[in-house]
Amino acid sequence: MAANTFGELFRVTTFGESHGKAIGGIIDGCPAGIELDLDKVQEELNRRKPGQSAIVTQRKEPDTVEFQSGLFEGKTTGTPIGFAIYNTNQKSKDYSHIKDSYRPSHADYVYDKKYGFRDYRGGGRSSARETASRVVAGGIAKQMLSDIKINAFVSQVGDIVLHKHYSELDFSKIDSNPVRCPDAETAQAMEEYIKSIKKQGDTIGGVITGVAQNVPVGLGEPVFDKLHAKLGAAMLSINAVKGFEYGSGFAGVRMKGSEHNDAFNSDGTTKSNRSGGIQGGITNGMDIYFNVAFKPVATVLQSYETIDKEGNPVTTQGKGRHDPCVVPRAVPIVEAMLALVLADYTLLARTNKL
Ligand SMILES: Cc1cc2nc3c(=O)[nH]c(=O)nc-3n(C[C@H](O)[C@H](O)[C@H](O)COP(=O)(O)O)c2cc1C
Repeated sequence: MAANTFGELFRVTTFGESHGKAIGGIIDGCPAGIELDLDKVQEELNRRKPGQSAIVTQRKEPDTVEFQSGLFEGKTTGTPIGFAIYNTNQKSKDYSHIKDSYRPSHADYVYDKKYGFRDYRGGGRSSARETASRVVAGGIAKQMLSDIKINAFVSQVGDIVLHKHYSELDFSKIDSNPVRCPDAETAQAMEEYIKSIKKQGDTIGGVITGVAQNVPVGLGEPVFDKLHAKLGAAMLSINAVKGFEYGSGFAGVRMKGSEHNDAFNSDGTTKSNRSGGIQGGITNGMDIYFNVAFKPVATVLQSYETIDKEGNPVTTQGKGRHDPCVVPRAVPIVEAMLALVLADYTLLARTNKL
């Protein structure tokens, strides 16, 4: 399996499967001398971990990160940062029903066909457990970028949409409810809806909005590595993601150029920000904002029709401990991937001019 590494200069390689001994990673290229608060990194992991509320999977994993290298006296040494999170709560027999059949719209069929092997326990490497390692690396990237403010929040669950611009929201309220939507009333409606979906043994999708503020001008590497191209790749690499748009996104299609253009102020800032902080693939100093769409995940706790390895039709009963809606737990993953892209491009920007 190739492509387990993300980034050019700030590079993270992740390893591990959901029911293996551990998952973890190596961060290569993190500059020396960054003061790290490791408790903050653990806090980021706690925001992603299972079992944190009634509306997420009830697996109980402590997800404690252990650092093995690259740190000395609270600072990065510039050497590879190695870390591991031990898997402690696997219930492999929860997955015996899918040993010989494929969950529709999961990665079971394609892994079997591509590799000839499949670790069916918990989805193996296709499990979103892998994203815990991204959250650790992103937690470090966030601290490297202490001037840039990185936030993400749930802005839609099914048909329930948060109809407020991010500038009207108080980001300190993102973690004040289990949905991670900073508007209390909308969050309440979303939470109730997720609970009703869970009761039906079903799943539902959602949207996460990401925002980066106080971004300097000049991050981005045209032509192939435009900042929004890398952001799109980062977000689309997250499990269950189906869509990415930044700035005016798909809605911009309905506007005329004269309406869509972001007029300049004399200091180079713009009066509107339909560009989403990126023009020509390079940051212009305005906020970066984007939406990431997550599907209703595959594992429904209902009876469903599928096929076995020989292509025979079978009826299977979904079981185990699964997420009825993944967006509350995916908020720290989106933030982590945003931080990883910005950390990488911050280092790359230093190679642009002598
Ligand atoms: C935080 C998070 C939790 C997830 N939990 C589940 C789950 O409990 N059950 C499930 O079927 N898929 C879950 N997924 C999605 C699968 O990992 C994903 O759908 C699968 O690997 C197939 O990949 P694809 O949907 O990107 O094509 C989760 C995704 C995320 C981001």
